[in-house]
Amino acid sequence: MKEYKIAVVPGDGIGHEIVPAALEVLHAAAALHDFQLAPDAFPWGAGYYRQHGDFLPPDGLDVLRRYDAILFGAVGLPEVDDTLPAKLYTFKVRKAFQQYVNYRPARLLPGIESPLRNKGPREIDFVVIRENTEGEFSQVGGVVQPDTPDGLATDVSLFTRRGIERVAHYAFRLAQRRRKRLTNVTKSNTLIHSLAYWDRVVEEVARLYPDVQYGKMYVDNAAATFVLRPERFDVILTTNFIGDILSDLGGAIMGSLGLGPSGNINPEKDHPSMFEPIHGSAPDIAGRGIANPIGTIWSGALLLEHLGEQAAADRIVRAIARALARGVRTADLGGAATTAEMTQAVIANLEARA
Ligand code: NAI
Ligand code: MG
Repeated sequence: MKEYKIAVVPGDGIGHEIVPAALEVLHAAAALHDFQLAPDAFPWGAGYYRQHGDFLPPDGLDVLRRYDAILFGAVGLPEVDDTLPAKLYTFKVRKAFQQYVNYRPARLLPGIESPLRNKGPREIDFVVIRENTEGEFSQVGGVVQPDTPDGLATDVSLFTRRGIERVAHYAFRLAQRRRKRLTNVTKSNTLIHSLAYWDRVVEEVARLYPDVQYGKMYVDNAAATFVLRPERFDVILTTNFIGDILSDLGGAIMGSLGLGPSGNINPEKDHPSMFEPIHGSAPDIAGRGIANPIGTIWSGALLLEHLGEQAAADRIVRAIARALARGVRTADLGGAATTAEMTQAVIANLEARA
């Protein structure tokens, strides 16, 4: 039987509740599709940092490298400096493993009410492809004389032709498999060097995909359009910082931050890819067993899709939709179901083997 090695990093806070929940669903789906998952859990994150002075051990990346994929919760704790989680874990893994595609579907599931009036599943169904390794989050920069009147700080945005081309190709190929529309969300009217170059390279790539309808939109207009006319979007291609913000907006119009999945993908499969919900460690509700596990379960479905187990992935997404359609809801969606009850409802709605 085919077996996949999965590194499991629950992280902090509700990560310890939602990641085991997602694993249960993945195991149940695997059993229906004749493959197995061999998970190994690692206790890394901000809690680990408090004991060991780092988010992962010195050989952490080498350990992760041996796996077919990584299932991740979220990192961060109120008592730990919040500039550290991205630097010491999330961006570190994304960069080391060239996970240059951040894949974030925003899709309103049937039965869930969007905060947008009169918008249903037909109107809210798009994917944000965010460049995930460079751009505004290159972490190049510095602070000079911060405690003096002459204090100054910089963060340098780094855009490379290689970095833009590779994520653009991914996004256009995705659009070819969807409704064949791609919107480049940019701000080249004010970031006249870096994002004008981004647009130029994206447009060069666009010419190689004449079957995809290409358009460009500035991010301020795009933010308004997310709210007013989300049906205009199919695939959105954007930069690291812009994508970070817009994909949370996408999660919000799906009905809850607790529903949104994401993949940090290395399309070439030279390195493992990492799948995580779009939300954080939610310390305000951690330990109470009430977190919504769906964002993480859905991220698990994206993980299976990446491993080539499309049928099992589709089965999980259908089960999520059915469980919600039957009215099972966690507190963030206005219901009273616990994490465990929501998880069992998804498992119960994985259809029996055909
Ligand atoms: P958050 O996403 O953890 O929480 C925002 C709000 O949404 C909270 O009220 C929370 O209770 C609620 N929420 C989030 N996920 C939920 C779920 N599954 N079910 C029900 N309710 C849910 O964002 P916040 O509060 O800004 O950050 C908390 C910590 O998480 C910080 O340390 C932050 O740095 C970290 N973080 C980590 C991320 C990652 O590891 N990729 C991503 C975002 C934040
Ligand atoms: Mg996360």
